[in-house]
Amino acid sequence: NLPKARPDLLTPGPAAYARGAEALAAGDLVSFPTETVYGLGGDAGNDKAVAAIFAAKGRPSFNPLIVHVLGEEQAESFAAFDDRARRLAELFWPGPLTLVLPRKPNAPLSLLVSAGLDTVAVRAPVHPVARALLQASGRPIAAPSANVSGHVSPTAPIHVAEEFPDGGGGRLKLILAGGKCPIGVESTVLDLTGEQPVLLRPGSVTREELEAVLGPVALAGADAGVKAPGMLSSHYAPNLPVRLDATSVGADEALLAFGPDQFTRGGHERLNLSPTGDLHEAAANLFAMLRALDKPCCKAIAVMPIPEQGLGVAINDRLRRAAAPR
Ligand code: TXA
Ligand code: MG
Repeated sequence: NLPKARPDLLTPGPAAYARGAEALAAGDLVSFPTETVYGLGGDAGNDKAVAAIFAAKGRPSFNPLIVHVLGEEQAESFAAFDDRARRLAELFWPGPLTLVLPRKPNAPLSLLVSAGLDTVAVRAPVHPVARALLQASGRPIAAPSANVSGHVSPTAPIHVAEEFPDGGGGRLKLILAGGKCPIGVESTVLDLTGEQPVLLRPGSVTREELEAVLGPVALAGADAGVKAPGMLSSHYAPNLPVRLDATSVGADEALLAFGPDQFTRGGHERLNLSPTGDLHEAAANLFAMLRALDKPCCKAIAVMPIPEQGLGVAINDRLRRAAAPR
């Protein structure tokens, strides 16, 4: 007899989407796969649902959430699109690009979603399960990654179940078990509320791709904490310490390799993000492998260097936060 609070894992399909929509309408939470990571979703217009998201994650209330929509039309009801935003939505939606835009006055959205800011982050996911849930619910869905605040993000349904064994205080009713997330790192977050576009979080839509459309895109500077409070401190952190740019590995360490693994000794446990050095494969494996290596048998996780190009920028960003002082 399982404790009642444990969320149900459902195979995606019409019945599962109907139950998901019902749970969302009741102000409860539903976890669903996106192309990036699993989300912990609640009705973005319902204060109690949004508060339950913050509570389940232990997320500081000053760190705002991303609102998920089917597309620009649905987003226009609460976010102000300028020409730049329209062009990017046309080119990259549905897909892993989040736009931070001015919030429309009287937007039918919980104020908590924006954590008191006059802006809102919005994205249209491309994953068919996320889209089917959005369609069934007919509402914008607020969804951070479905992990306890500061933990490694979930890229498979089992990760979500492990993060919230009691259903996040009982409000997480079901997990749409849609397999592994194909991209594996969170969406690119771009701030378009100022004259100069600012990249708040690197993801699989790269700065180069954005600059080809917009011209120069600034990187979030040292004051980024004001704009995206989730971006500064330790984050994506396994229990074990993480050691970056390893050129050797100790006998009491776990090794997270990339490309040909030339270490002949050490590495009590070993996994390889991509033996052929493919950054897409590495991103898709990153969070699951960090979880798998995070065992008490080892003293630390040593990570081989990853090239700082393309998706490597997003991978290194997550790894640096995983290695940041706690
Ligand atoms: O790929 C993703 O984006 C996943 C899936 C579930 O869609 N979601 C996700 O959400 O990564 P979360 O909450 O873990 O990360 C949202 C990021 C945070 O860094 C937050 O600070 C930033 O977006 N953010 C949200 N609203 C913002 C706003 N109004 N202004 C600036 N940054 C914002
Ligand atoms: Mg997150």
